[in-house]
Amino acid sequence: MKRDLQVMKHPLVDYHLTALRDKHTAGAGFRQAIKTLSMLLAYEATADLETSTHPVETPLVTCDGYQLNCRVGLVPILRAGVAMVEPMLDLIPASEVWHLGMYRDEATAQPVHYYSKLPDGKPVDIAFVLDPMLATGGSALMAIEALKKWGVAEIRMLAIIAAPEGIARLQKDCPEVQVHACVVDQRLNEDYFIVPGLGDAGDRIFNTVG
Ligand code: PRP
Ligand code: URA
Repeated sequence: MKRDLQVMKHPLVDYHLTALRDKHTAGAGFRQAIKTLSMLLAYEATADLETSTHPVETPLVTCDGYQLNCRVGLVPILRAGVAMVEPMLDLIPASEVWHLGMYRDEATAQPVHYYSKLPDGKPVDIAFVLDPMLATGGSALMAIEALKKWGVAEIRMLAIIAAPEGIARLQKDCPEVQVHACVVDQRLNEDYFIVPGLGDAGDRIFNTVG
């Protein structure tokens, strides 16, 4: 496995992925599975964040406490990435959240960038791009390019389900970006949907299925 791709291997990931894939899992259950998997994924993807120590008083003694040394940015890609924000904020409460809006043109699967509120200057130290689905990789690449333009030095992509095609694209076009995925599925179909996948993540999260 390449250093820039981390794929989870854990029975709880398999278990919660099954709920996510199941077409009978509706709204609340689907969102809960996204949250649980996001937290497991984030736990792995943040394992090497630097900390510094400071004294903390317990009721008994003074001991070492730890704080994160970096400014963390969470960058959800609208819409589906929004569901991954809360579990990450639970883990890193001081994270800044910077939204990027993108949707895929249904005919071409090319991403259309419709919203960005990234500021000028003062980039975060590390940015986590959040999107449950990495399919062709077009949306993720567009987000990564916006973050590079902002000046972010360390960018990581967190996807719950990734397609080999999307991973290959990121490895070719931005090999410095570490990709974390719960699972790598078989392929894209002729409509650029991930197989076996879970369908349209945004529609299932926000109850907008046809
Ligand atoms: C989905 C998904 C990703 C994108 C992945 O969003 O949440 O953003 O597709 O596909 P790609 O890797 O081929 O770019 P979608 O375009 O359905 O937008 P939506 O969540 O607003 O419906
Ligand atoms: N976006 C989704 O929501 N699902 C896919 O399978 C591919 C892109």
